[in-house]
Amino acid sequence: MCGIVGYVGPREVVPLLIDGLRRLEYRGYDSAGVAVVADGRLDTRRAEGKLDRLVERLREQPLSGSYGVAHTRWATHGKPTERNAHPVVDSKDRIAIIHNGIIENFLAIKRRLLGEGWTFSTDTDTEVIANLVSSYYTGDLAAAVKRAVGELEGMYACALIGTGSTVGDGEEIVAVRQGTPLVLGLGQGESFLASDPAALIAHTRDVIFLDNGDIARLTRSQIEIWDRSGAAVKRPVTRLNWDPQQVEKGGYKHFMLKEIFEQPEAARDTFGGRVDFETGTVGFDALELAPDYVRSLSRIQLLACGTSWHAALIGKFLIEELARIPVEVDYASEYRYRDPIADASVLVAGISQSGETIDTVWAMEAAKERGARLIALSNVPGSQATRISSGTLYTHAGPEIGVASTKAFTTQLVAFYLLALYLRQQLGREVEPELLAPLAHLPQAISEALALEPEIEKLSRRYHTATDFLFLGRGIQYPVALEGALKLKEISYIHAEGYPAGEMKHGPIALIDEHLPVVAIATGKRVFEKVKSNLQEVKARDGKVIVVTDRDPAELDGVADHVLRVPALPEALSPIVSVIPLQLLAYQIGVRRGADVDQPRNLAKSVTVE
Ligand code: F6R
Repeated sequence: MCGIVGYVGPREVVPLLIDGLRRLEYRGYDSAGVAVVADGRLDTRRAEGKLDRLVERLREQPLSGSYGVAHTRWATHGKPTERNAHPVVDSKDRIAIIHNGIIENFLAIKRRLLGEGWTFSTDTDTEVIANLVSSYYTGDLAAAVKRAVGELEGMYACALIGTGSTVGDGEEIVAVRQGTPLVLGLGQGESFLASDPAALIAHTRDVIFLDNGDIARLTRSQIEIWDRSGAAVKRPVTRLNWDPQQVEKGGYKHFMLKEIFEQPEAARDTFGGRVDFETGTVGFDALELAPDYVRSLSRIQLLACGTSWHAALIGKFLIEELARIPVEVDYASEYRYRDPIADASVLVAGISQSGETIDTVWAMEAAKERGARLIALSNVPGSQATRISSGTLYTHAGPEIGVASTKAFTTQLVAFYLLALYLRQQLGREVEPELLAPLAHLPQAISEALALEPEIEKLSRRYHTATDFLFLGRGIQYPVALEGALKLKEISYIHAEGYPAGEMKHGPIALIDEHLPVVAIATGKRVFEKVKSNLQEVKARDGKVIVVTDRDPAELDGVADHVLRVPALPEALSPIVSVIPLQLLAYQIGVRRGADVDQPRNLAKSVTVE
């Protein structure tokens, strides 16, 4: 969950590293630090709290150098204090390390090292790696790291710099990856590393994703990589076509708002080039499922966490409706800890914006071990979920920086719609023009839903002091209710629950009184009247009702206190617009309550620890 970044090259390293950390702050933000080597001396600055505290510290005590590493932390071992901030330095003051992950056997190694006279000044598991590497270091840092990692159990992405290197010109960063993401960037006479490509794209688009067990040495002129066995290997270079502008706020107050407003384009980018409206065909570049294979499937399993899990619930609805293949949806964090049934007749899809969520990746691996075929639905090319899969359906949302997922969710819904149509086609059924045509209007429909912002801003004034919210939906809108509740919780810290509207009378109705705002999604034909009667039950108990609907607001007279009208779309696409007012509501309430909406407390963008 921590953000790591490194640079070796002719430029002044500290501003470059700080810029990289800014782009990674969403990964973790309880402390930050930087280490450089200059004139053969290792120097660090660290600070508790957000990155600005580190910047302040650097203003008071500047650092300079041409290679170094930096870190923004999300605490696992040890409290979020300056003492435990990274980079961590070994007790001989020769090696600095930044680390994302957890060393499971750190206590055993620490005991041994203490016995050998090494000292420890932090509560981190990272310090164990620093001292262990230092104990093997005789001038070749990569060789010392290779020996040390043989003893480590757990997951880690680390970058190390040291003094006294006898290799080449001595300017080097050594990186190692086991289980947590690490990406290297290739420049002209300079090299970069980071835990996320978002930190690199301002400088280079040519990146290498390390494999598990890989160790890399980065110098100005080259990157060398060795695999787990110590053999020199070449890893493919991926060209990222992300626009550097996309990782800036572009005039918006927060990344979250910018990303909410990027949704028309992100949706268009996700279906663009994959649908032939004339011939009625759907196809993907990095995913192919042969008709015979699709026919042989007994079912599909979707594995995901958080917002991606909500998208998967809608994916189930779409695939079952349009392709008539049974679909199961699992929390990835639960799947691995039972004995799931999966074999060659099961297609397993891991849904992950980042492609690095460890629960999802591990659950996918558990399915693969049982013989299932894996595919990924992800936003990040080259990420772990995509690399263990036989094919990937990419969402083209561009980098998502705000911790709360918005455009990743709606592009996942677009991707699921395409996948459902594709499966239908591979089964030999026609993809009728009326299934494809609405996609062309989707970006405009999202823009119309975004135009509700001023109205939602007014609503936020009225409701930002509520202590609880209830979100209700039915059918395909039930996962949207879950997503609306999750967004509000994350961004505003208001307690919120999402519930199937029809279930309300089996319990949650007891919560309803004049203080409880109830947000309901009532769209389309299939369950509109049902949801309306559920809302009558709320009104009869004085609840405050906000309805997102694509129907004439007059139909909700006497039932709704506020109506947010979104454009009408076919049911299968309707969640893509009905979720927009809920994202905006969470955002506006969060801002009004003074919360840090881009970096909500205790959260991290990519959850790369279990
Ligand atoms: C919520 C949110 C998280 C993520 C979850 C999975 O706004 O962002 O719930 O959806 O951590 O992340 P990915 O999709 O990267 O696997």
